[in-house]
Amino acid sequence: EQIEKGGYDHFMLKEIYEQPDAIRDTFRGRMLADQGLIKMAGIDDHIDKFINAKRILVVACGTSWHAGLVAEYVFEELARVPVEVEYASEFRYRNPVIDKDDVLIAISQSGETADTMAAIKLAKESGAFVFGVCNVVGSSISRESHAGAYTHAGPEIGVASTKAFTTQITVLTLIALQLAKKKGKISTSDFHTYLKELETIPEKVAEALTTNDLVEKIAAIYKESKNCLYLGRGFNFPVALEGALKLKEISYIHAEGYPAAEMKHGPIALIDDQMPVVVIATKKGHYEKVVSNIQEIKARSGKIIGIVTKGDVDVKNLADHVIEVPETIEFMTPLLTTIPLQLLSYHIAVLLDKNVDQPRNLAKSVTVE
Ligand code: G6P
Repeated sequence: EQIEKGGYDHFMLKEIYEQPDAIRDTFRGRMLADQGLIKMAGIDDHIDKFINAKRILVVACGTSWHAGLVAEYVFEELARVPVEVEYASEFRYRNPVIDKDDVLIAISQSGETADTMAAIKLAKESGAFVFGVCNVVGSSISRESHAGAYTHAGPEIGVASTKAFTTQITVLTLIALQLAKKKGKISTSDFHTYLKELETIPEKVAEALTTNDLVEKIAAIYKESKNCLYLGRGFNFPVALEGALKLKEISYIHAEGYPAAEMKHGPIALIDDQMPVVVIATKKGHYEKVVSNIQEIKARSGKIIGIVTKGDVDVKNLADHVIEVPETIEFMTPLLTTIPLQLLSYHIAVLLDKNVDQPRNLAKSVTVE
């Protein structure tokens, strides 16, 4: 097992560090940035289904559901198609309205999650086109889908999902870009700019990973906290949910992710000097509004950990700590802002001596209801 961990103390840390390569593997052979091309058989062979879809339904569970939420924002922004994201467990039992022209995207690392499988069956009965985004090759969901795209993240052993999440977002971004281009919703020059930028994301993820030592120090300060709040907006709202989920899963600290602007409708009541609040405040993504949320937290003595764009000044002046990530195009920021949140939960769990790779009560793949 030590050999399999490749010199890392835990699979989770190894998998966090594998993300630059995993993301590169996800777009290898699919994205030809120099030629301004995306080639994905799973999409290209069925592009009419996607173009004609009046809406896209996304079903998933856990971390994969968070990737689906990011995809909702990216698809709507780029391809201008309505997207609904649902927990597979809710979808399967609520008699949903499914049209035969809908495209259903099922996202699953393992490809074996029972609820997601059941949601696929339901969609197929209604005649919808089912597209699977799985990591495990040959898994049940990949076989049950009409078409799909693998994430190519490689085996993920740690129960808390890390590289599966960022590679899911990568695949879904490629699909959104291809669809946007085929539908004529983005210009050729924007398409090229986006591909060129996506190509730099692995390097930028590697740069985000250099925050590790700083994140470990921050983890040591807050490891005894009983609660933690994560806030984000727009593309980074799902990242806030995912950051909170990671902390819950492996450190057993209660954490909540919230859209930053919803703070005033509840969570603000919880803020005192004992409450760490992780705020994703990258440039462009409603930055000024998030800065004013930070001021509100500060006024209530909350402890602020800001995830900011490199070179940020405003949040640095207000926050107790800032963790910088490189600048990128707004819809790609989740691929970077996720990294310090994964590291933060990892280090807190290690400092608390928890079983990082196999947290209590959780399974890597939930094949029963
Ligand atoms: C379990 C795992 C999570 C995962 C979820 C969905 O709860 O512990 O890490 O996100 O299942 O799994 P899937 O394989 O469908 O992505």
